[in-house]
Amino acid sequence: MTRRRIIAGNWKMNTDRDEAVALAKAVADATAAFAADVDVVVIPPATLIAPVVDALGDSHVAVGAQNMHPEVRGAYTGELAGPMLTSVGCGYVVCGHSERRQLFGETSEFVGAKVAAAHRFGLIPILCVGETLEEREAGQTEAIVADQLKRGIDGLSKEQLAETIVAYEPVWAIGTGRTATPEQAQAVHAHLRGILKQRAGAEVAEAVRIQYGGSVNPSNAAELLGAPDIDGALVGGASLKAETFASIVGA
Ligand code: PGA
Repeated sequence: MTRRRIIAGNWKMNTDRDEAVALAKAVADATAAFAADVDVVVIPPATLIAPVVDALGDSHVAVGAQNMHPEVRGAYTGELAGPMLTSVGCGYVVCGHSERRQLFGETSEFVGAKVAAAHRFGLIPILCVGETLEEREAGQTEAIVADQLKRGIDGLSKEQLAETIVAYEPVWAIGTGRTATPEQAQAVHAHLRGILKQRAGAEVAEAVRIQYGGSVNPSNAAELLGAPDIDGALVGGASLKAETFASIVGA
């Protein structure tokens, strides 16, 4: 099975309205030539999702959110629910980014509730998993990502699982300029796909797209994306410049 590549740009807490609109338009222009072959997603701060969706019009670029709450409404000050995202044209949502896990105390169970809720509300979840440097050095990488993956997909149907995107993001590679080698990343991706196969069978496991994230840039993207189980990239810093992001899409 050939999995369609997906490159997503996580803008994190960057850009104001004018910058976001300009960046989104520039990304649409610069990646238009690849639209037939690659899914392209931009993930702006929450207040800028609506203006970015408007700016993109009917272009090939989809829009995602960086986070959401699993409940549909209620007394959760500061949180956003799935329908609030879909109602402004958002199609994807990042669940369990390591910054959310580390800085905001999100547990794998809570992340799993978000992934399930995303499917319930018609959003495609991008489930992030990844080990810290200490965990890698202690030989715990496979166990850590397996646990995060299993809890993250808990309760999903096979159909929902097939449409879930997984992002392997080693914490030590995020924003550090230190990328996993293609061999290191491929080994973890193959391990993750093996877990998906145990859980839901070969057909579902082969359908799931697994992105790599962590200091992806135009000089390392082609090599990483050449590995058999790396189906795309979740790009942070390098997604804030349209040309740089577009050359990763081109890779
Ligand atoms: P980075 O971030 O590309 O800046 O390392 C990746 C991410 O956090 O998704």
